[in-house]
Amino acid sequence: MRIAIASDHAGFIQKDPLAQYLRSKGHEVVDLGPKTDERCDYPDYADKVARMVARGEAERGVLICGTGLGIAMTADKVPGIRATPIQTPEFAQLAREHNDANVIGLSGRFVPLEVNEKILDVFLSTEFAGGRHAPRVEKMMREDDPSFQGVPLDL
Ligand code: RB5
Repeated sequence: MRIAIASDHAGFIQKDPLAQYLRSKGHEVVDLGPKTDERCDYPDYADKVARMVARGEAERGVLICGTGLGIAMTADKVPGIRATPIQTPEFAQLAREHNDANVIGLSGRFVPLEVNEKILDVFLSTEFAGGRHAPRVEKMMREDDPSFQGVPLDL
């Protein structure tokens, strides 16, 4: 699989080891930076990975910041991206099966490398389950439509 990877300074410590891990598993990894652990802004790197995945130039995106939160939030702003922060292999499985997540936000500060490796194993090997989840994902990806009311609120 072709995978785009990037981090900020807080995730940098795990970026190269995770890229190497993915290469050892036979994946093609495109490293979009940064090149050092100098302080930087996670949105800049989230955007690079998200756009590459949205354009179909990578099948999945891997983002690492301190928590995995901000970098995933930013990636989600790009149309076509379903990014989520993940801290356990179980959540990685459900993010794929139920939500068809195509970008993952990992924590370089609070989750050990070995756990992030397991998370990536699951994230990259689990298929979207489709079925009842498919229309939900379609609704999630709907362009902003002011006329869409969803389920009426019973206030
Ligand atoms: C950087 O200090 C930190 O805020 C960032 O890596 C990330 O955790 C944000 O969500």
